[in-house]
Amino acid sequence: MDWGMANRLGQLIQPDGHCLFLPIDHGYFLGPTRNLEQPGKTIEPLLPYADAVFATRGVVRSSIEPAGSKPIILRVSGGTSMVGADLANEGITTSMEDAVRLNVAAVGISVFIGSEYERQSLLNLGKLVDEGEKYGIPVMAVTAVGRELEQRESRYLALCCRICAELGAKVVKTYWCADGFDKVVAGCPVPVVMAGGPQADTELEVLEFVHDGMQNGAIGINLGRNVWQSDYPVPMIRALRHIVHENGSVKEAQEVFDAVKAGDGRPAPVPA
Ligand code: 5RP
Repeated sequence: MDWGMANRLGQLIQPDGHCLFLPIDHGYFLGPTRNLEQPGKTIEPLLPYADAVFATRGVVRSSIEPAGSKPIILRVSGGTSMVGADLANEGITTSMEDAVRLNVAAVGISVFIGSEYERQSLLNLGKLVDEGEKYGIPVMAVTAVGRELEQRESRYLALCCRICAELGAKVVKTYWCADGFDKVVAGCPVPVVMAGGPQADTELEVLEFVHDGMQNGAIGINLGRNVWQSDYPVPMIRALRHIVHENGSVKEAQEVFDAVKAGDGRPAPVPA
């Protein structure tokens, strides 16, 4: 692997082999999502605990301080909205030249496997990988399910992840599933990162699935709504960090959550 590509991946995947990405790209198809109306304000207290931020160029330029910024994963697919005909009908919205100008650590693109736009989104991925290879920029593929949340089962997810890896993605972001997540990871020759999905009923549910996913081979998480839509975003991200980077149990992570929420002055785990 070329030095630039390896360096960028090294900014994202920490020396322990794990990663905690903070996605705030939702506005690109959802508009001003709850608690993300002002992205800069939302992420300010969370940034010390994130290894990278996943965002569009509009939010990067308008809402993130360039000096001392966390590594950026640039969302470069889009062109659809929640109120449009089909979320799967995405194109590439941002050139690799602009990604270079923004000095990003990676670019991210969704693929919609099984949809009417499967071929289009996969060819977009292939083209993006070609461009990324030219400049040493890794591609993170996002296995999107649009509104079909019930598609989050292992056979489908394994198919999606493998296809993304075959087309050249360096990292694949997919959903955790209760049965067979280990097979999803085992069938994917590049690292798998878990997405979060809509806000869960309880924080404990999130800690449990993240812990299970890490035990079953994921290298980390890319969780948005379950962090910044939580009533307690900082306790939540710190509890998640405890699982991802400290190999913490669910019980320990819950203790971190409770302690930070209670504001007992417990020192923050020092982000790498
Ligand atoms: C949207 C995305 C988001 O980055 C992804 O869904 C993660 O956010 P959340 O945890 O809120 O689902 O790729 O397509």
